[in-house]
Amino acid sequence: MKPLIVANWKMNPPSLKEAERLFAAVKNIKGAQVIICPPFIYLSAIKANGAQDVFWENRGAYTGEISPAMLKNIGVKYVIIGHSERRKHQKETNEIIAEKLKVALKVGLKPILCIDKVSQIPKNIKGLIIAYEPLFAIGTGKACSPQRAKKMRLAINKAAGRALVLYGGSVNSQNAKSYTKEAGFQGLLVGGASLKSKEFIDIIKNVCYR
Ligand code: PGA
Repeated sequence: MKPLIVANWKMNPPSLKEAERLFAAVKNIKGAQVIICPPFIYLSAIKANGAQDVFWENRGAYTGEISPAMLKNIGVKYVIIGHSERRKHQKETNEIIAEKLKVALKVGLKPILCIDKVSQIPKNIKGLIIAYEPLFAIGTGKACSPQRAKKMRLAINKAAGRALVLYGGSVNSQNAKSYTKEAGFQGLLVGGASLKSKEFIDIIKNVCYR
C-alpha cells in the first residue's frame, strides 16, 4: 500500500491566493496518497480532500460549526479529529471526540484520530486511521525517536486491530523515512513542513522512492 501522507496546514496560510499556490505545488505528486487538510474556508475553492475538524451533528442550531454532511457533500474524504491543539484550546474531551468520530463515519468520511496515548483509542469504533502524535514533538522540532515511536505503533496495532497508523510530530524530509521504514508506520501527519512545498515534496519522495 502507498504511504498516506497527510498535510495539516492548521490556521495557515492567511490568503486564498497562497493556499491555491501551495496546493497547486503539491497536489499531483506521484507515489503517495496525499491528503491536504486546509482551513475550512479554502476547502471548496481548492477542492482539497481533507479537513482539520468537524462537528458532531449533521444539521441544526450550532452557530459557527461545520457538519460531516457538509464536508462529504463538497467532496472531502478524510477528516482529522481529536488533534491535541483542539483538545487543548477547544477543550475537546475523549467523549466529544468519540461523538465526532461516529457521525463522521456515518456519512462516509474517513476519520484520522490523533492520539498521544493508547487509552485515547475508543474501544467500540471501527474504521479509524490513527495518528500517533506525541505532545512533546508537535511543532517543537523535537521529533520522537523512531525506536520509541515503533513501540507505540505496536501498542496501537494491538489496541486498534487493523487500523492504519500514522506518525506525526516534527516530521521533516530528513526524518520522514525513519518512521515509515524503521518504525513501520503506514504514513505521516505533517504540520509545519507541509507549508513549505519543496520540503513537503521531499518528504514524499524520501518516503516513497529513496
Ligand atoms: P508539526 O505538527 O509537524 O508541525 O509538528 C504536526 C501536527 O500537529 O499534526
